[in-house]
Amino acid sequence: MTQTFPLAGQVAVVTGASRGIGAAIARKLSALGAHLILTARDQDQLNRIVAEISAAGGHAESHPCDLTKPTQIEAFARLILEAHRRCDILVNNAGVGWFQGPLHTTPLEDWDQLLAINLRAPYLLLRAFAPAMIAAKRGHIVNISSLASKNPVPNGAAYAASKWGLNGLMVSAAEELRQHQVRVSLVAPGTVRTEFGSGQSSQKSALGAIQPNDIAAIVALLVTQADESFISEVLVRPTLKK
Ligand SMILES: NC(=O)c1ccc[n+]([C@@H]2O[C@H](COP(=O)([O-])OP(=O)(O)OC[C@H]3O[C@@H](n4cnc5c(N)ncnc54)[C@H](OP(=O)(O)O)[C@@H]3O)[C@@H](O)[C@H]2O)c1
Repeated sequence: MTQTFPLAGQVAVVTGASRGIGAAIARKLSALGAHLILTARDQDQLNRIVAEISAAGGHAESHPCDLTKPTQIEAFARLILEAHRRCDILVNNAGVGWFQGPLHTTPLEDWDQLLAINLRAPYLLLRAFAPAMIAAKRGHIVNISSLASKNPVPNGAAYAASKWGLNGLMVSAAEELRQHQVRVSLVAPGTVRTEFGSGQSSQKSALGAIQPNDIAAIVALLVTQADESFISEVLVRPTLKK
């Protein structure tokens, strides 16, 4: 490990890395020296990010995986652990949000899909990768939550539930894993300028929307902090409210 490349030799898995916040996190962790494993569904988009990282001198590979499918998650994790024998950093970033109407009009299939991606997948990925981290006595599991996990979200109740649930899940897992020197943390942003949801987050003014790179910088801080330090939760707001 060097000062310039503090993550040299480490393997980092980033979900939802085909665009938006996940792509920014992947680029940032690669710039810090990690070997990046990118996943999402869109192979072409993943290839594009891998090519960008390679062109910048980094090391990355991609493996498509639909996070609504537990068997695909298990196969993905097995592949990574067999190939690399380690996973130092897991960033549970992939997420969807639909803000189409009140809960009583939310179709069951939308509920199931949203909860599968935003809440069940982080559990399945933690379950798959935590044993390798415990054995290595090191690891970071960073979860991209949302300020929606702190507030009521009318017309987005399922999304709010998934993120409130993610927080409860991960602060509990954090207490289980910290004794093994595995740190589980939450990053909860307000509006970030991406294609998320209906794309409304790309419409905000510059100071009214956080940039994906701002979240990547927070993740970089979390995974490079001193061994004895455990930043467990970061709330990130845009500077301007409107
Ligand atoms: N943007 C915001 O304002 C904001 C605010 C607070 C929190 N967040 C959180 O930040 C995270 C990233 O959001 P973003 O803004 O970067 O959104 P985004 O641009 O829409 O990206 C979402 C990512 O998730 C992946 N994904 C979606 N469904 C998937 C599935 N079934 N299986 C595997 N991957 C899937 C997408 O890739 P594919 O389509 O290729 O599968 C994509 O890479 C989410 O957890 C979101 O809740 C966002």
